[in-house]
Amino acid sequence: MPVVSRRDVLLSGLAFSATSALSSRAWARAQSALDAIADQAPSALAPREKLLFDFGWRFDLGNGCVPAKDLDFGQDQGDFAKTGDFKFSTKHFDDSKWRSLNLPHDWAVELPFVWDDDQKSHGYKPLGRRYPENSVGWYRRAFDVPASDQGRRIRVEFDGAFRSALIFVNGCFIGRNDNGYAPFGFDITDFLHFGEKNYIVVRMDASFGDGWFYEGAGLYRHVWLVKHDTLHLGQHESYVRTEVAGKTATLALGTVVENIGDKVETSRVRWEIQDASGKTVATAESAPQSVEVDGKTSFTATAKFANPELWSPETPTLYSAIVTVEAGGKARDAERVPFGVRTIKFDVDKGFFLNGQSVKIKGTCNHQDHAGVGAALPDRLQYFRIGVLKEMGSNGVRTSHNMPTPEWVEACDRMGMMMMCETRQMSSNAEGMAQLETMIKRYRNSPSIVIWSMGNEEWYLQRDVVGEHVMAAMVRRTHELDPTRQCTAAVNGSYGTGISKILDVEGFNYNLKSPDEYHKAHPTQPCIGSETASAISTRGEYFTDKQRNVMSAYDTNQPGWGETAEEWWKFYGTREWMAGGFAWTGFDYRGEPTPYGWPSISSQFGIVDTCGYPKDTYFYYKAWWGKDPILHLFPHWNFEGKEGVEIPVWVHSNLDSVELFVNGESQGSKTIEHLGHAEWKVKYAPGVIEARGTKDGKVVLTEKRETVGKPTTLKLSAERTTIDADGEDIAILRAEVLDDQGRHVPTANFQLEFKVTGAGKLLGVGNGDPNCLESDKEPKRSLYNGLAQIILQSTKTPGQITIEAKSTDEQIKPAAATLSITTQQATLRPAVPETSEDYKPEKND
Ligand code: GAL
Repeated sequence: MPVVSRRDVLLSGLAFSATSALSSRAWARAQSALDAIADQAPSALAPREKLLFDFGWRFDLGNGCVPAKDLDFGQDQGDFAKTGDFKFSTKHFDDSKWRSLNLPHDWAVELPFVWDDDQKSHGYKPLGRRYPENSVGWYRRAFDVPASDQGRRIRVEFDGAFRSALIFVNGCFIGRNDNGYAPFGFDITDFLHFGEKNYIVVRMDASFGDGWFYEGAGLYRHVWLVKHDTLHLGQHESYVRTEVAGKTATLALGTVVENIGDKVETSRVRWEIQDASGKTVATAESAPQSVEVDGKTSFTATAKFANPELWSPETPTLYSAIVTVEAGGKARDAERVPFGVRTIKFDVDKGFFLNGQSVKIKGTCNHQDHAGVGAALPDRLQYFRIGVLKEMGSNGVRTSHNMPTPEWVEACDRMGMMMMCETRQMSSNAEGMAQLETMIKRYRNSPSIVIWSMGNEEWYLQRDVVGEHVMAAMVRRTHELDPTRQCTAAVNGSYGTGISKILDVEGFNYNLKSPDEYHKAHPTQPCIGSETASAISTRGEYFTDKQRNVMSAYDTNQPGWGETAEEWWKFYGTREWMAGGFAWTGFDYRGEPTPYGWPSISSQFGIVDTCGYPKDTYFYYKAWWGKDPILHLFPHWNFEGKEGVEIPVWVHSNLDSVELFVNGESQGSKTIEHLGHAEWKVKYAPGVIEARGTKDGKVVLTEKRETVGKPTTLKLSAERTTIDADGEDIAILRAEVLDDQGRHVPTANFQLEFKVTGAGKLLGVGNGDPNCLESDKEPKRSLYNGLAQIILQSTKTPGQITIEAKSTDEQIKPAAATLSITTQQATLRPAVPETSEDYKPEKND
């Protein structure tokens, strides 16, 4: 992935100010992770090519019910009768009226919201069988295959797509994939015209869902075109298993070589182990073996090296294995497999150990959507999101409730975030096992993954003997594919029956009364908090207001099944035998509005909102999960009309005690209880509140909140001002408004309009308001409690991109920002070149 230097960030006049240092630091972390791996990004190595297939697509909505509105697909029930008849994937199809777009793309986020309570959990988007006009999407693009590729095998690979994909190439049906999260791919070689233009069409049907949360729609993850030899490495077959004894790392290496050529090959595999700087630290070689025509052969070897740098959240050191297949005296295929060296252990009495050290997992569960983009996240956004969570002191994420996007896992590997990686379907049926197998093989080399989750809250399987059978099959297969990690599941109730009997590590969703008893009764099974909290709050709101669908941001609200942040962490943070836990959720997400319904279109469980702007509870976690001294005072002090009303004033802090002052008058000092917070009730009067925090008898931190003036001036800040001209990179901008003294106005809620000009485009906008029905894609957005977010994306043209923001209130001074889009330091990922269409109507058209 292309990078800019950190110097650019620091020198930038636009970079976040000290008041928003949080995001700035989060970004700097992400940046350095990206800097470090810039030249390691491609996993394919010569002679293999892995080309990004994201650019230059055309898109149109079809129809799930009416064939005439769906390219006549299904018109006469004879569609699949013959090979070669799908004209929409040939040059005889005119797609000039279709929209041009690049991937990743989520068409669900572009749809308007509808007040239809059946769509509540998916975020009130008109998708599904009752909305056939919105639920089918067609993607099409032309691509050249050079004549020189003759003799190679060519595959199209999808990192995951939502949902029910049908793939066609040059008039021929290629294959299908149903679920929305597992990667899949097809060898399309036989259907290609070498030295000519070729046409691929993907029909996506989001009529059915996989989950009960916002899932997006379309090709929302990357697509790749992979070219390799007929003698080649199997997809996701390479593994590197590490063990550490004393100062030596021992690697068990393995892969599978497949032969789709026309003669038996005698082959061997070589491994070269490189450290993070690219220096070779070990090599290994398999014995030669033959690979039959249409056959596969497994190759293994071991390697050792001294003084490995161990992977941990603090030191996310990665190594790479360069895996090369040789036959006939030359390298026939190769790939780079990043891995880490570290040890993990779940202990029944002492919790979790990383590299022999006891570590509490301080985690959050997350869905995969973000403001402005829905489920289609540019890679940089994955790094940004992990940066926000790391900055909070968190060291773990759970990929609830599905297999993650690869770049999410890579961000965790590179930035140092442990992961509970979860499969979507808990089942030992063919589909469930295929999903599980794909997940394990795809991600088993990632050091961030410390445990596999077999699924979430399966009511029937939790309580029934069928659960034992299903789980036994899943756990057995997981251990075959990955003997280095244990299996858990997110279990809610019926502890001790069904699946619990089989799991290596028992997971607890909520139910704080259960773990102690369970632990006593099951002295050989370690425990983890697979899902906790579900605490609810709205960023910047300090009065729960049912009319407005908002919950106060004090840590006092949770649904019947949940716990506040303080409740769950006082429980999990104080039991040595507990491995730690994952709070529901890190980020707010679309769908599952709780406790309100329409017009709430997103959840309010997040510790940060859908943009990544922290709610106040973020600082509770930062105080007790992080390492720095923390003092966070809230609420803001702008409650016009509430003069004389008692207002709770809270402090999240890990100092010894805090004294509060209101307009200079002390309200008394409070000791901060371990894992607790301090609170006062004071009568509102405009002015200033101040908290002074003391450690070892000395005031070490102070924080103020002031009654600010009227909004006068808009402000835009970007986390980076130079982005790469690769058509993928993004800048994340924060919009806010200041008063005449330059102070942030935390109550501003008026609409802003944006104008974007130059060598980039507006990718999306958001504001973290769970009740906002404005479009994510139009160049305007209301501030919500003082903040909005704008995501700009580069094109492949270097130059500048300018964004202007203004309010309809002309008294408010507009703001503008200019970003540079440069190729200077960009390492462009190899991509399938864009090609112009070549429409040739047939005679009878
Ligand atoms: C859990 C469930 C999550 C989410 C959460 C909301 O029971 O596993 O997916 O629905 O409740 O509190």
